[in-house]
Amino acid sequence: MQTRVLTGITTTGTPHLGNYVGAIRPAIAASRRPEVDAFFFMADYHALIKSDDPARIERSRLEIAATWLAAGLDPKKVTFYRQSDIPEIPELTWFLTCVTAKGLLNRAHAYKAAVDKNTEANEDADAGVTAGLYMYPVLMAADILAFNAQQVPVGRDQIQHIEMARDIAQRFNHIYGREFFVQPEVVIEEQVATLPGLDGRKMSKSYDNTIPLFAGGAKQLRETIMRIVTDSRMPGEPKDPESSSLFTIFRAFASEAESAAFRRALEEGIGWGEAKQVLFERIEADVAPMRERYESLIAKPAAIEEILQEGARKARAIAGPKMAELRDAIGLRAMSSVTMHADHSRVLSKSVKSPRFASFRDTDGSFRFRLFSSEGDELLLSKSFKDPKAAGAVQKQLKSIGGSAVTLHSLPLSLVLELDGEPVASTPDYVDEMARDEALAYLREALDKLAAQGSE
Ligand code: TRP
Repeated sequence: MQTRVLTGITTTGTPHLGNYVGAIRPAIAASRRPEVDAFFFMADYHALIKSDDPARIERSRLEIAATWLAAGLDPKKVTFYRQSDIPEIPELTWFLTCVTAKGLLNRAHAYKAAVDKNTEANEDADAGVTAGLYMYPVLMAADILAFNAQQVPVGRDQIQHIEMARDIAQRFNHIYGREFFVQPEVVIEEQVATLPGLDGRKMSKSYDNTIPLFAGGAKQLRETIMRIVTDSRMPGEPKDPESSSLFTIFRAFASEAESAAFRRALEEGIGWGEAKQVLFERIEADVAPMRERYESLIAKPAAIEEILQEGARKARAIAGPKMAELRDAIGLRAMSSVTMHADHSRVLSKSVKSPRFASFRDTDGSFRFRLFSSEGDELLLSKSFKDPKAAGAVQKQLKSIGGSAVTLHSLPLSLVLELDGEPVASTPDYVDEMARDEALAYLREALDKLAAQGSE
């Protein structure tokens, strides 16, 4: 079983060394593990909340896509896409908005911080706060829930958002009576280093103390490293590795043995200038080959676009059927299915017949069954069971579960029925999505009828 791991990258800035060590490198390493089904996307709708500068949004999307690809993300293994290419996400955002308590959003840290700042400055509490900022957690919940992500690796500042996504998922499941959404779990990488910036505080764009990853090339990288703040010890004087940013940054790139050697050099009094040169060379050894790939990717934006379009296709193949299932569940159904629903119940109420199961032995010797509607239409075909008792037990469960409690996954033209998370039966293929959605209502109704009979 693979674990679905999903994370988003807000596309406002240009990646720096801290982003690489703290997020990009560990995420790509995790995505290579065979048991991981990774979904990485560019949160460009979230970016709009922070920036209204079209050029910056455009530039950042390109730079971030090229950075992740250059750093080794394999788009064949990872589903890599842009949020704004997935129309199911804003659609789901609205569905979730309608079950989210406004009070929950009032408690979001980012919103509260804005309100506190305004209150302190004697401004109106909501001055300068857009509805987009307020809704940020719901959009993020939709990012996660549309794909039933099980794990969401994020920074500590995002923990509350994942908790809110869990709350919102739970609320939706509760209201509509089924486990539509997996409860996502937050994953905080404790091992990952947070790099200090030029001034010793955490490297962050908001402190303006970052070291660029690719921008400006090797020259810029070296010049920036030379600006890292150190103490005033002279060459020859021993330096304390533990309190030196140089050492912390060095360690994030180096092996144990290399770090031990650098530690010794500092303790033995290497000059700061020379130490910075050593640090630069160590980082450059890792960054140079990536920078080369980055430059050639940036020069071919059409190729990146193609990769992202392919990613969007993969992502929508999951989110699309999910949304069809949700639309059905909340009552946004085709009118034609309502008519059929009505007709059908009339037939049923007049009819003495009920849906029925038919068991059979398949050519390979396995045991299977079909479920037919009272009109004799095939509704379901079970998977193969080795043991007739197992097939019988599933039939028994289907007889009592009822239409609203059963989990049905929509494929493009058919439906798969799951019990306890296992697919046990599927419908025939229908001609189009509308016919499939009609069949969904029809099947639920048949299961309700069976359950009603059982309890009579
Ligand atoms: N809010 C996240 C950040 O600023 C980015 C993000 C958007 C995200 N949607 C997400 C992260 C979904 C994880 C899952 O870092």
